[in-house]
Amino acid sequence: MKIDVFCGDPFSQTADILVLPVWKGGKHLKLPIKNEQKEFASNITLRLERKGFDGKLGESHLFPVSVDGTDEWMILGVGEKKGVDADRFRQFGAHLVRSANLAKAKSVVLPMSALQETTLKQKDVVQAIAEGMQFASYRFHAYHGTQTKTEPKEGTIERVTFVVARDRDLKRVTEAIGIAETLASAVHLTRDLVNTPPADMAPKHLASVAKGLADKASGIQCTVLTADDMKRLGMGATLAVAQGSEHAPVGIHLTYTPKEKSKKTVAIVGKGVTFDSGGLSIKPAKSMETMKCDMAGAATVVGLFKALRNLQPNVTVHGIFLAVENMPGHSAFRPGDVVTAMDGSTIEVLNTDAEGRLTLADALVYATEQKPDYIIDLATLTGACIVALGDDIAALLSNNSRLASKMCDASEETGEAIWELPLHAPYQSMMKSKIADLKNISSGHGAGTITAALFLQPFVKKIPWIHLDIAGPSFNERPSRPDVSYGGTGFGVRLLANFLQKL
Ligand code: BES
Ligand code: ZN
Ligand code: ZN
Repeated sequence: MKIDVFCGDPFSQTADILVLPVWKGGKHLKLPIKNEQKEFASNITLRLERKGFDGKLGESHLFPVSVDGTDEWMILGVGEKKGVDADRFRQFGAHLVRSANLAKAKSVVLPMSALQETTLKQKDVVQAIAEGMQFASYRFHAYHGTQTKTEPKEGTIERVTFVVARDRDLKRVTEAIGIAETLASAVHLTRDLVNTPPADMAPKHLASVAKGLADKASGIQCTVLTADDMKRLGMGATLAVAQGSEHAPVGIHLTYTPKEKSKKTVAIVGKGVTFDSGGLSIKPAKSMETMKCDMAGAATVVGLFKALRNLQPNVTVHGIFLAVENMPGHSAFRPGDVVTAMDGSTIEVLNTDAEGRLTLADALVYATEQKPDYIIDLATLTGACIVALGDDIAALLSNNSRLASKMCDASEETGEAIWELPLHAPYQSMMKSKIADLKNISSGHGAGTITAALFLQPFVKKIPWIHLDIAGPSFNERPSRPDVSYGGTGFGVRLLANFLQKL
């Protein structure tokens, strides 16, 4: 989809559809139209009122027209003006694309005038709408075979033109569209990686995509850790998880170094279990169906680095993941085994399905050795997180409240919902083993997301740290938003990009 900007009269543009955004509320619908179209517009208004249209977000009606260069006008609800935020515009953009595709339109013109009647900056509104439009256009077609590779029922929109009133807005709006395109292509990479079947996304595949992002000119380097490197470094917990799989584990350490002076150094760690069968503590069939998503944290790191190539923030970023597959092969690790993590901590494995925290233990220790100011990890870590917060919301747990509130600010802006759970220290005792330092499952009842985070906490030492459990929002079986479709969502890519840019 090509998105551009035009400055001038929206009615002078030629396109399949001209979109007229309408706010909810008010006694009478207000259409942004010109004098000579008044009669036609009042006719439309009457018909809309008869249909009960009131500007609800995403509600759309099409009217054939003959008064300008477009074939149809699309009246599209924006929702209540009160309380409007960037996320509403993101969803508006997504609705626009979905409705335009249903109408089989190829080109759309969107006048910005009505959408500017808020306190938000025009460039932020445009960026959010453009993001929503791109996200709603995402398709994962790579695995459609001869039976389904036919023409899709709906159309595919090819061109969107934003129309602004003032020449001096052109530059900023064009930039905003560029940022939206950068973020969307990063999010779509993460979605693709998560959606790819696990046989085609073994550790070496995931690692090779990360390697492909290295690019001297944009300040990105990549170091690969082989299984031998992991042995040398003492990553015994990760190697134990990898034992039952025919695929060797692969570690990735991406580094982004800014050209200007670096303000901070941040390490971002992702859980990279390319498939989680549960190992010998094998999962029930139903729970295994979506376990290709267990590398979503790592995929988010990869997507983020794709975005960093263009965004070029003034912070140093380490992107770290240990890609492994958790399988119950004949050499699999067993409940009862004791493994040693990179910092010498010993862990009694009582459930091989609690494998994410084992690989993260090593990855977090490796992260601390980069001497970062902050560590952030993203992991599809616990089913308990879905019980607590559902499919839309990630859990945030942190040892530093100021850092946590920065992440919450970023989340407000990007619309990726997070909710803080407490790192409740008294529960730490539930993770103590009788024969080793720690055990990998809790002896208590409940609070599975909290105890998993408490397990991780000692490995970050005293470095300010945020753990994001993305088990729910990284993969959607029943999407509730117009900008996400079935499968991988790319959750966290924009959140982290926003967070890093504001440090
Ligand atoms: N990968 C799963 C967590 C998960 C569940 C992610 C559902 C996405 C959707 C993780 O490795 C796991 O199996 N966790 C166990 C931990 C338990 C054994 C303590 C769980 O949540 O049941
Ligand atoms: Zn597991
Ligand atoms: Zn897992």
